[in-house]
Amino acid sequence: MKLGWLEATVLTAATFASAKDLAYSPPYYPSPWATGEGEWAEAYRRAVDFVSNLTLAEKVNLTTGAGYVAHSYETARGIELVLTAYADGSKNTVSVRPVVSPADYNSGFPAGVNVAATWDKQLAYQRGVAMGEEHRDKGVDVQLGPVAGPLGKYPDGGRGWEGFAPDPVLTGVMMAETIKGIQDAGVIACAKHFIGNEQEHFRQAGEAQGYGYNITESVSSNIDDKTMHELYLWPFVDSVRAGVGSVMCSYNQINNSYGCSNSYTLNKLLKGELGFQGFVMSDWGAHHSGVGDALAGLDMSMPGDVVLGSPYSFWGTNLTVSVLNSTIPEWRLDDMAVRIMAAYYKVGRDRVRTPPNFSSWTRDEYGYEHNIVSENYVKLNYRVNVQRDHANVIRKIGSDSTVLLKNKPGALPLTHQERLIAILGEDAGSNAYGANGCSDRGCDNGTLAMGWGSGTANFPYLITPEQAIQNEVLNYGNGQTNVFAVTDNGALDQMAAVASTASVALVFVNADSGEGYISVDGNMGDRKNMTLWKNGEEVIKTATAHCNNTIVIMHTPGSVLVGDWYDNENITAILWAGLPGQESGRSLVDVLYGRVNPGGKTPFTWGKERKDYGAAILTEANNGNGAPQDDFNEGNLIDYRRFDKDDVEPIFEFGFGLSYTKFEFSDLEVKALKADKYEATTGKSKHAPVLGKSEKASENLFPSGINRVRQYLYPWLNSTNLKESAADPDYGMDAKDYIPEGATTGTPQELLPASGPSGGNAGLFEDLIQVTATITNAGTVAGDEVPQLYVSLGGEDDPVRVLRAFDRVSIAPGQQIQWTTTLNRRDLSNWDVASQNWVISSAQKKVYVGNSSRKLPLSADLPTVQ
Ligand SMILES: *[C@@H]1O[C@H](CO)[C@@H](O)[C@H](O)[C@H]1NC(C)=O
Ligand SMILES: *[C@@H]1O[C@H](CO)[C@@H](O)[C@H](O)[C@H]1NC(C)=O
Ligand SMILES: *[C@@H]1O[C@H](CO)[C@@H](O)[C@H](O)[C@H]1NC(C)=O
Ligand SMILES: *[C@@H]1O[C@H](CO)[C@@H](O)[C@H](O)[C@H]1NC(C)=O
Ligand SMILES: *[C@@H]1O[C@H](CO)[C@@H](O)[C@H](O)[C@H]1NC(C)=O
Ligand SMILES: *[C@@H]1O[C@H](CO)[C@@H](O)[C@H](O)[C@H]1NC(C)=O
Ligand SMILES: *[C@@H]1O[C@H](CO)[C@@H](O)[C@H](O)[C@H]1NC(C)=O
Ligand SMILES: *[C@@H]1O[C@H](CO)[C@@H](O)[C@H](O)[C@H]1NC(C)=O
Ligand SMILES: *[C@@H]1O[C@H](CO)[C@@H](O)[C@H](O)[C@H]1NC(C)=O
Ligand SMILES: *[C@@H]1O[C@H](CO)[C@@H](O)[C@H](O)[C@H]1NC(C)=O
Ligand SMILES: *[C@@H]1O[C@H](CO)[C@@H](O)[C@H](O)[C@H]1NC(C)=O
Repeated sequence: MKLGWLEATVLTAATFASAKDLAYSPPYYPSPWATGEGEWAEAYRRAVDFVSNLTLAEKVNLTTGAGYVAHSYETARGIELVLTAYADGSKNTVSVRPVVSPADYNSGFPAGVNVAATWDKQLAYQRGVAMGEEHRDKGVDVQLGPVAGPLGKYPDGGRGWEGFAPDPVLTGVMMAETIKGIQDAGVIACAKHFIGNEQEHFRQAGEAQGYGYNITESVSSNIDDKTMHELYLWPFVDSVRAGVGSVMCSYNQINNSYGCSNSYTLNKLLKGELGFQGFVMSDWGAHHSGVGDALAGLDMSMPGDVVLGSPYSFWGTNLTVSVLNSTIPEWRLDDMAVRIMAAYYKVGRDRVRTPPNFSSWTRDEYGYEHNIVSENYVKLNYRVNVQRDHANVIRKIGSDSTVLLKNKPGALPLTHQERLIAILGEDAGSNAYGANGCSDRGCDNGTLAMGWGSGTANFPYLITPEQAIQNEVLNYGNGQTNVFAVTDNGALDQMAAVASTASVALVFVNADSGEGYISVDGNMGDRKNMTLWKNGEEVIKTATAHCNNTIVIMHTPGSVLVGDWYDNENITAILWAGLPGQESGRSLVDVLYGRVNPGGKTPFTWGKERKDYGAAILTEANNGNGAPQDDFNEGNLIDYRRFDKDDVEPIFEFGFGLSYTKFEFSDLEVKALKADKYEATTGKSKHAPVLGKSEKASENLFPSGINRVRQYLYPWLNSTNLKESAADPDYGMDAKDYIPEGATTGTPQELLPASGPSGGNAGLFEDLIQVTATITNAGTVAGDEVPQLYVSLGGEDDPVRVLRAFDRVSIAPGQQIQWTTTLNRRDLSNWDVASQNWVISSAQKKVYVGNSSRKLPLSADLPTVQ
């Protein structure tokens, strides 16, 4: 029996649960329909108006991509909604056509991990606006970002750098600011990958077969309810609160039900509890079933085909058929279309839209519009430069994210009095293949400024550290400094020779990671180790053996093991520069020469050994040919929470970073605020609205005379015989065998206790406590500090401390400021599985303030609140 389109939840329950005792995802139906509450009201009203006028085929067209033929998958960045409605009685089309990067004449932005390292909400917002403007000006409707999954269960997970940090609060704040920025620029943001997408290995069964694992299903992230709420779901709550227009469901399974088939994560958590009003789209190839996924809460199939490049779809014609044969209720399709259009209106796509002016298949000016079928040779690339002045914010994020991990007196900043500067390491120089010489940045040649995969962009240029340092010395120095660069990591003798004559050696090393469809030096997306790449340790060793003023600069997507060298007495300073984007060299020299006083803080822990982080990435199939099982047994104890709980000393702790000045913390004040009592949400939803009239098969036939693009997906039928049109051998299977109970009802439904229209029950976001501290710049230069507030929730199973608030503040030398922040109910609560709600436990809670997860000079007990 072929079960392709069955609901995976039901399948799991029936097939495995008893026999093999695998984690299981409870069904939750029906799929909550949009209600247009809060700030969605106007957009929702317009969407309902618009969708009410559409035909069945037009609604289906909104939900289903035109297929892989219409765009390039590797470089997925945005989709284009080609949208025109009936106007003046003339027939226009409503369709969804994905258009994706990489484009050209666009910026190469710093990675999410760098944004996290700035701890600067304003910079996160500004980067969001800048990215949004570039997508908008290229004609893209949806930018496929930002990323909160992976969150960072694994320090060596391949795509961690695309997101922000392995802390839900830091990530949540950065998600929200980025989303607001992108959407204020008039482009729909997409919070992804929902959810539990923590490793690249086995994320897609087909991909894993490509590297030798004969598995039939993708990895299952088995996550308990408490961990889900307290860790992985948290930043998505902030995304929904920020008004995000779309969410992308992930490749992996959660409790053995696929990300885009999982009624528990999509219907219950995202749409039910969080009250998400936008649309859920599938990751490219993550759509696994027609009827099942529609009922489980998927709203848009991207790029639409069953497998990339096939001319068939789980939706498209099949979706039209399943509404006509009453398997999927009309209201569910209407809800999909309304959610898509509500997001469209919410960000103002109807006001600012430009037609797409680039192709994701080629950089040539002319080419085939339908690339893989070589049809329609036209002008594709208009080479519209969308960079504006974004280099400025890119440069600023680059320098403000640079973390000073070590600095002996006199080492940094440089002074232009240097006698001889040695620049050592391939990571200082250019990629001999060109900055964009490897497809989707899938190599580690020259300086590293971006990881690899579909989350990358083409660089417009890439300023290397070598270029920027040479430029600095030659143009702004005193004319006396000598400077030499050795960028061949095999040339250790030459490095030794230069190092032994240098007054300062700047050593550049890196490690890289990316997305699982590209393997670089045996790293299948995820890193295969946590050491440096390309002989980096030997380069450092060579420098330190010959130069007692060695400064190490690292470009890495996350933590690397530095234990063998960081405390070498000849290493006078260490900087982590992350993946800084196109302005890499300039951002760095701003810090090296003290024009920017470093204020970045590491957004992850630097441990002594890999094992200190806990579980290893699952790299061997552990369930025969079935889905590899990744049990999230560590619960919410990842990164610093793990180190704290185990009382293991890291080398550099989460939140740590030095400055060229010195800050002091004093005068902690804690005050309870007046607040209402928390009330669980009760009551029922309204009846699901049905828009438009029911149609007959005959009204949905392919229009005669239409020029069908080969392999394109259309919403129409070949014949009034539905079975024939669906061309599915399993067509007509008895509904009671696969339609989950209650999945098709549109009657009012019981609301969840923790639910609310914008991220959950409004009481969760009510401030209960105000905290104030004084911060003094006790040094001689101006600088930025990041006050960090941690809370101990006090329960036996709780992390020792969790980050709950932070800001980045600039303080002049000798000055002090008062920093005030608040804690809301969610900040002080635990998820209670029994009541399915957030509860403030009776355990004594404590607040800590300081400038890293382990440098917390101020602390106080919290007053009892409820
Ligand atoms: C997964 O299973 C765990 C343990 O039974 C349960 O707590 C959790 O809610 C389930 N999550 C999903 C998404 O099914
Ligand atoms: C829907 O159709 C009605 C009647 O034809 C028209 O008045 C209205 O403007 C249309 N609304 C939209 C959003 O197209
Ligand atoms: C659906 O979209 C395709 C292009 O992707 C277009 O050719 C077709 O006319 C659209 N059909 C309807 C009913 O809007
Ligand atoms: C892969 O597994 C399937 C079923 O589990 C089996 O039919 C097939 O022969 C296997 N293929 C290889 C290459 O081992
Ligand atoms: C309908 O979906 C099935 C899989 O469920 C697929 O095999 C078939 O090709 C699809 N039909 C069309 C017309 O895309
Ligand atoms: C560039 O990267 C490719 C792919 O990883 C590698 O094979 C090649 O040796 C590198 N070339 C240089 C000059 O670094
Ligand atoms: C770790 O992986 C990198 C990149 O593939 C490689 O260059 C390095 O040699 C590896 N380290 C060890 C200790 O094997
Ligand atoms: C390095 O060695 C030189 C010469 O031996 C000495 O003058 C200088 O002070 C040393 N620098 C550091 C940073 O120890
Ligand atoms: C430090 O550098 C000096 C050269 O300046 C060298 O003689 C010494 O061995 C180095 N020390 C270490 C620990 O590498
Ligand atoms: C529908 O008809 C077209 C044109 O004859 C054909 O290419 C396509 O395969 C048919 N689709 C199905 C699902 O039978
Ligand atoms: C209705 O159509 C869908 C999509 O083609 C198909 O999977 C399903 O089996 C059909 N159901 C019935 C009862 O005909």
